[in-house]
Amino acid sequence: MDRYAVIGNPIKQSLSPVIHTAFAQQTGQQLEYGKLFAEVDGFKDVVDAFFAAGAKGLNITAPFKLDAFEYADTLSERARTAGAVNTLALQGDGRLLGDNTDGPGLVSDIRNHLGWSIKGKKLLVLGAGGATRGTLLPLLKEQPALLHIANRTAAKAEQLADDFSAHGSLTASGLEDIPAGFDLIINASAAGLSGERPQIAEVVVGQGGCAYDMVYGAEPTPFMRWAADLGAQTADGLGMLVGQAAEAFYLWRGVRPQVEPVLEMLRGELR
Ligand code: ATR
Repeated sequence: MDRYAVIGNPIKQSLSPVIHTAFAQQTGQQLEYGKLFAEVDGFKDVVDAFFAAGAKGLNITAPFKLDAFEYADTLSERARTAGAVNTLALQGDGRLLGDNTDGPGLVSDIRNHLGWSIKGKKLLVLGAGGATRGTLLPLLKEQPALLHIANRTAAKAEQLADDFSAHGSLTASGLEDIPAGFDLIINASAAGLSGERPQIAEVVVGQGGCAYDMVYGAEPTPFMRWAADLGAQTADGLGMLVGQAAEAFYLWRGVRPQVEPVLEMLRGELR
């Protein structure tokens, strides 16, 4: 049977095996999907052994997305611009393609599942780390009216805007200098992981605005609660997680699984 896995450190918490097993059942695909642990400096040896044993593909989670970027034989455009790889796929010629499905997973969750539009809208992304870098190109491809990156450390947001200037018109600032009235705010900062929210002014949220947090949990995140109090529609990142998995599954198997039933199942388990 074709073998796949997710690699990370830690890896116990990963929902990817549950998601891909559900996709396989739903689409009638025969495959096995497991979890791989590697020491922080041990990515290459574990992945060498996995593919030497005949595996067909691998998902990569923290802290190995840069290792996977270097490991891949060829890169998709979105992986190259993201500077990170979350999916490796064995090609017919024996080479390993490195792709990044995080951005497409986010965009499909926002556009198809939540039904929020990006095209022509004023978009704000909070944070300037790997999570932001991984999603800028797919977001720009949706042609927002403008895309502003704001970060606690303004210089990092400015650097990122500069790095992506060939792909669209970007502006950047610190958290305290964000203009007012955004239609869609995406929190890609790590603030939620420590139970905080990025400190931004209320006027940043436009009338009828939407707020998306890339992290998820059983409860709404601090950022979601803050935005909901201001009248915004809110969503967490569970749909992005299932969306990136669906894009990886499609890359490997050529079949598009349905996201909704799997998302509902996971939501039920989180509660
Ligand atoms: P990731 O790869 O998940 O994006 P990262 O590269 O460590 O992780 O980046 C974390 C991002 O979250 C950074 O933009 C960081 O801001 P700084 O560049 O100023 O460090 C942001 N961040 C972390 N904690 C935050 C907090 N409490 N409030 C606002 N932003 C925060």
